[in-house]
Amino acid sequence: MHDLQVLCQGHLPQIAPWFDDPVTRRWLGGRDWAENTLLLAKADTNRHGLIASIEGSPVALLDVEVYADASASFAIVVDPRLRQRGIATRALKAMLEFTRFAPVSRFFAGVQHGNESSARLLARLGFTPTAKPSEQGFIDYELVR
Ligand SMILES: CC(C)(COP(=O)(O)OP(=O)(O)OC[C@H]1O[C@@H](n2cnc3c(N)ncnc32)[C@H](O)[C@@H]1OP(=O)(O)O)[C@@H](O)C(=O)NCCC(=O)NCCS
Repeated sequence: MHDLQVLCQGHLPQIAPWFDDPVTRRWLGGRDWAENTLLLAKADTNRHGLIASIEGSPVALLDVEVYADASASFAIVVDPRLRQRGIATRALKAMLEFTRFAPVSRFFAGVQHGNESSARLLARLGFTPTAKPSEQGFIDYELVR
């Protein structure tokens, strides 16, 4: 896996089918999730759509938002055909090392109740759950550095 690249319009046809997968749809939503990530990143300099690729093909998409307090939230989706091979682990390590995010001192992600893949992924990377679930059933996992 190479460095993360900025998401662009040209990636959308390749990543759109990931959002037809029922697991992706359950936890993130349908094809408009990818389109919104691109639109939000274009409209807001604190918002970043990032692509991880292997041999030139996109394998993961990250949506990262950096806040004024030097924290950043993120969500990630991996190509459903390539899950449970360590791709998300490597993509999130690349996110943590991404030069643009050097000033970020706290990363966090909301994990919905029942999303065991996400919870295990984050725990393995050293993230810890912060509090009881919100009314929407989310638990924030955070990594302070
Ligand atoms: C969550 C997701 C990003 C994980 O991607 P991935 O590339 O499969 O993750 P990795 O291969 O790096 O695996 C990381 C850990 O998760 C575990 N894992 C992966 N899929 C799992 C599953 N379906 N059930 C339980 N654990 C799972 C792996 O075993 C590994 O844990 P371990 O090494 O301690 O056993 C991927 O499943 C996905 O895109 N899901 C849909 C979108 C989503 O839920 N995003 C999270 C919201 S932030």
